[in-house]
Amino acid sequence: MSAPNPDPEARTVNLFAPEFARCPQEVYARMHAECPVARAAITNSPVISRYEDVIWALRHPDLFSSEMELQMALGTERPMIPQQIDPPAQTRYRKLLDPHFSRKKMAELEPDMRGYANDLIDRFIDAGRCDFDPDFAVPLPCTAFLRLIGLPLSDLEFFLELKNGIIRPQLKTQSIDQEVNRTARVESGRQIYAYFEEVIDDRTARPGDDLMTQLVHAEIGGERLSRNEILDICFLLLLAGLDTVTATLGCNIAYLAANPKQRRSLVEKPELTDGAVEELLRWETPVTGVPRVARKDMTVGGLEIKEGELVTLLLGAADIDADEFEASDRVDFERARNRHLAFGGGPHRCLGSHLARMELRVAMQEWHRRIPEYQVAPGEAPRYSPGIREVLYLPLVWDAPR
Ligand code: HEM
Repeated sequence: MSAPNPDPEARTVNLFAPEFARCPQEVYARMHAECPVARAAITNSPVISRYEDVIWALRHPDLFSSEMELQMALGTERPMIPQQIDPPAQTRYRKLLDPHFSRKKMAELEPDMRGYANDLIDRFIDAGRCDFDPDFAVPLPCTAFLRLIGLPLSDLEFFLELKNGIIRPQLKTQSIDQEVNRTARVESGRQIYAYFEEVIDDRTARPGDDLMTQLVHAEIGGERLSRNEILDICFLLLLAGLDTVTATLGCNIAYLAANPKQRRSLVEKPELTDGAVEELLRWETPVTGVPRVARKDMTVGGLEIKEGELVTLLLGAADIDADEFEASDRVDFERARNRHLAFGGGPHRCLGSHLARMELRVAMQEWHRRIPEYQVAPGEAPRYSPGIREVLYLPLVWDAPR
């Protein structure tokens, strides 16, 4: 373990700088070398980067709470369930939800997912080009989500608009004014609640064979979930399940476009896909960090953290920590031991990890089966966002099949 650098400048990290969006791994490596626990530029809040510290914090919700005043920022009226709730209440919700997202349940969706992936590819393969995000990475997870929860696929466009209204209100408002965008978020939030209210009424009157019906009839300790509880779960599923998979798909394909040797290994040996999915989740870690609130004064990695401070657990940095991963700066699809934190850890570990893995495996396999050779369009470069690491612009070209 290296001693923290006493220089205050060295202990500051800017997670919104262009260099972080371009190559977060370089910023992570610098943190490990100079300031494993730093303060964020602008907000001055603590940022924890080492694997050992991050996993410890994730496993101690009594010290690092998920209950925070952030919810209004996402257009919600109450905490999202279970992400913004601490154990033991959170544990009860997870017991209820986990069986609906099991590996076995998600495997049942796999044939449909292959169909959706191929339907999308059919639309652009003959053109020899696509804009990866809107043409493939955005609609695929959204379709999977609608299918899982039991909503009509014809609602796809409407859903994308609602989700973007929360995550990227500036696209709708065409404004960078914070207040304008906050109001737009709240409005999108209202529409999301209203949409799911109708679905709850419908499934109460006409039960179906889908997750929404199961939520309407679910019980904790012999009591049905309240209407608000169902709404707060649905809101989270919508926000947590779409952009994350979109972002991961974009990062994976951008990486493989830039690394043709590794891409060809995947085309020749599709059985490497699972290893590639895990390794690219580790290397790119699209959810770069998760927020927590310190529940008491403490010192981590030489930095004093005060009770009530907002702390970022930098999952992406933990995932390239050389103390945990052998040759941590090498992307190796056959890595033997890969306990990455791309899905978080501890009680809040991602509920949708089996769904995400299935979507990623199917998408990567079908894409490379049909479009084995591709590259970023000449003269263009992928553009990444900070925060959630997503490739905002990824124009791809290939030789159209004759
Ligand atoms: C590659 C895609 C995904 C990534 C990288 C990802 C990442 C994460 C991470 C890092 C967390 C932990 C948050 C925290 O500790 O505060 C999380 C939680 C969560 N994720 Fe995912 N996620 C993905 C896909 C999904 C999908 C497809 C769904 C569901 C449809 C989903 C639903 C959730 C939920 C409900 C939680 C909150 C769990 C809790 O607080 O108990 N995620 N995810």
